[in-house]
Amino acid sequence: MSTGRTADLWWKNAIVYCLDVETFLDSNGDGIGDFNGLTERVDYLAGLGVTCLWLMPFFPSPNRDDGYDVTDFYGVDERLGSLGDFVVFMRAAKDRGLRVIVDMVVNHTSDRHPWFRSARSSRKSPYRDYYVWRDEPAEQPDAEPVFPDAENSIWSYDERAGQYYLHHFYAHQPDLNFVNPAVREEIAKIAGYWLELGVDGFRVDAVPFLIEMGGTGVTEMDLDPHAMLRDLKAFMTRRRGDALLLGEVNLPHKDLKTFFGGSRGDEIQLLFDFPLMQAMYLALARRDARPLRTSFKRMPDVTDEGQWARFVRNHDELTLDKLTDAQRQEVFDAFGPDGSMQLYGRGLRRRLPPMFDGDEARIRLAYSLLFTLPGTPTLFYGEEIGMGENLDIDGRVSVRTPMQWTDGRNAGFSTARPSRLRRPLVEGRFGPLAVNVAAAERDSDSLLNWMERAIRRRRETPEFGWGEWSLLDTDHNAVFAHRCEWEGRTVLAVHNLSDGPLEVEVDVGGGDGASVQDLLDADGSVQSLERGMLQLTLEGYGHRWLRLQGEDQRPTP
Ligand code: GLC
Ligand code: CA
Repeated sequence: MSTGRTADLWWKNAIVYCLDVETFLDSNGDGIGDFNGLTERVDYLAGLGVTCLWLMPFFPSPNRDDGYDVTDFYGVDERLGSLGDFVVFMRAAKDRGLRVIVDMVVNHTSDRHPWFRSARSSRKSPYRDYYVWRDEPAEQPDAEPVFPDAENSIWSYDERAGQYYLHHFYAHQPDLNFVNPAVREEIAKIAGYWLELGVDGFRVDAVPFLIEMGGTGVTEMDLDPHAMLRDLKAFMTRRRGDALLLGEVNLPHKDLKTFFGGSRGDEIQLLFDFPLMQAMYLALARRDARPLRTSFKRMPDVTDEGQWARFVRNHDELTLDKLTDAQRQEVFDAFGPDGSMQLYGRGLRRRLPPMFDGDEARIRLAYSLLFTLPGTPTLFYGEEIGMGENLDIDGRVSVRTPMQWTDGRNAGFSTARPSRLRRPLVEGRFGPLAVNVAAAERDSDSLLNWMERAIRRRRETPEFGWGEWSLLDTDHNAVFAHRCEWEGRTVLAVHNLSDGPLEVEVDVGGGDGASVQDLLDADGSVQSLERGMLQLTLEGYGHRWLRLQGEDQRPTP
């Protein structure tokens, strides 16, 4: 029975909302967001209609990589509250029917983690093999560091240890040695711990690096790295049947299928679709749907449990690393021409509304794609109101400014003196005076209210999450049209990527439908088809969500 399955594989029809506790709401006026603040805003999140919160790292950390450098996997950073406050938040979230997943950052630890302190102090330390060491740096390192502005090698010499250690990210983030069974035990223990506290799963950081074995001396002949992921998944499933892994795997489409667990589908259920996201930006920059069509066709099928996670922006740079140099330059020219907006030569450190110069129709177009492309939509906090970035903040952190609640002091985020804020606010056109929750809630035409309607409709339309997808032919290169079919029901979405209005003919691709009903417009208009062809008039950047209707189908509310 469909409804049963929809609820069971819950991530296939979820709306994920990513936030960082320290920039959401500060409850005690010290300038830093905290769990008590977040708990106060659980009703806001439930009202928005999202179904699953993803918490960025909140563990004790020296904060040299915004919490992605952990010193204790079993605790809460005391600046954000206590473990007790975490549990109070969890209870409030569950009460409103929200699921919660948390970041699992186990590719590396902070160099101040007690494991690394012990490991570097002696070759006899029980933790020495928790990390990856060698006497000489590799002459031709097999990989580049992920942050090329800060590091020039993935091997750094440690004086105390008298050896080089591996770090794919910053030198202060030594990589854990995943081939060591003791490390895998620890990771399972961490997963088990947070599951015990009620979380519904994990966003797994940097998965390809986690299972990378270069430098460990163990080869893939001896140990299958995917078997290690399978074991972790199996462990979690034993503990809790519906636990979710959401994987950060930025690889080309052809390499992604194995991370779902191939045809067995027994590894990661949700994978971020980085390649299609990048193709979408190229298509938006060109106002031409073809790059998106090409990527859509390459997208591998998912298994029963698998699903793509969609996103427009996340907390990192908007990476464009899978585009060619010329394509990337086109996106830079369109959405971030200034050098200060670019990062690592591969990405943009901006949010979407400033990239689109505040053009609300175009912003809605991008989010309409997010909600209708096959998969699970993932939002980054502040996207629902159209927040911008602050380019005065270094590097990737420019998009991680405090949430904008009101146009009052510190955007309603904190009562602290402005100089004590964890991070400066956005200024100017996308800052709190112009963009904030309080104003958006009162304005029925706001982006926030559009998002709420779109989210509600998306949840009522599980076909976009579950369905078999296919591309539809149209007579316009600027138009992207696709359909999703599930259990005898079919929905279509049509997007005009160009800025001008146009008439388009869409081949709805068969089926017994005689007409389509609009799922988003105010009166739910119904339009009949001519021999399986649909004639539509679309505004510049216009979009339509439609349900194919047969004679015998129940109408959509
Ligand atoms: C992931 C995170 C990023 C972090 C890095 C190292 O890429 O998204 O924010 O810096 O891993 O943990
Ligand atoms: Ca605080």
